[in-house]
Amino acid sequence: MKKGEVLYKGKAKSLYRTGDPGVLLVEFRDDITAFDGQKKDVLSSKGRLNAQVSAFLFRLLERKGIATHFIDMPDESHMLVKALDMIPLEVIVRNIAAGSLVRQYPFREGTVLEPPVIVIDYKDDSRHDPMLNDDLIIALGILTPDDLAMIKEMALRVNSVLREFFASLGITLVDFKIEFGRTPDGKILLGDEISMDSMRLWDMSTGKSLDKDVYRFSKGDVMEAYNRVAERVCAEDKEVCK
Ligand code: ATP
Ligand code: TYD
Repeated sequence: MKKGEVLYKGKAKSLYRTGDPGVLLVEFRDDITAFDGQKKDVLSSKGRLNAQVSAFLFRLLERKGIATHFIDMPDESHMLVKALDMIPLEVIVRNIAAGSLVRQYPFREGTVLEPPVIVIDYKDDSRHDPMLNDDLIIALGILTPDDLAMIKEMALRVNSVLREFFASLGITLVDFKIEFGRTPDGKILLGDEISMDSMRLWDMSTGKSLDKDVYRFSKGDVMEAYNRVAERVCAEDKEVCK
């Protein structure tokens, strides 16, 4: 598959056209950013590790019956995906109170949220991704009530699969962000990435962060944390991390 012109360069990934208009190539770059892009760095191998973990998790979700944009991994830092018309929502699923939930509401960090809590933000950097509610999502015409219900159900199924998988690796899935998009025939698929940039992961034995919080809050060596996750994931599937 040829790497065509660049279609979009985001904060951590670039999208390229391919010879097929229905297929895009996603490059996971080594750029890392936090706090609306105010903190940024380049970390060697970070793109590769996030691409490999994302590809593994998309394959796992597909096997569990969740429709995703993932097609293939042509090399260690690229994914071939179905081109989607992205829905401008960040769908966050929370199993344990942390991050903005603790900063903005009277939750104590570490409180178990059962059932899990879904928070949906409007994806618009210029507005600092404000939180939405169901009425706003429908009033803005972003989703119909049926599609909103379907997306929430998909998000909870993704959570169940990922939570169980990470628990088997000795890792607690605290929370994560996913994005959805539409195919030209209107089908809603899980898109974007699922990586150490978009999940909060805590080591069950040490309680230490194994995700972007290490970078956000300068908690230590972020690449060591990302490597720990990738090593454990890759032990499950040598193919994806070759
Ligand atoms: P943020 O970091 O806030 O998510 P960004 O746009 O800077 O924003 P990147 O991950 O760097 O994020 O860019 C990837 C872009 O590709 C995102 O805008 C995402 O919505 C989009 N995207 C992901 N999957 C697909 C797809 N299958 N088809 C089209 N666009 C996609
Ligand atoms: P959240 O606690 O809302 O924000 P912050 O990371 O600023 O404390 O994040 C919840 C989860 O969603 C966390 O795992 C990071 C992920 N996330 C993203 O990947 N991108 C985003 O733009 C946001 C808001 C969250």
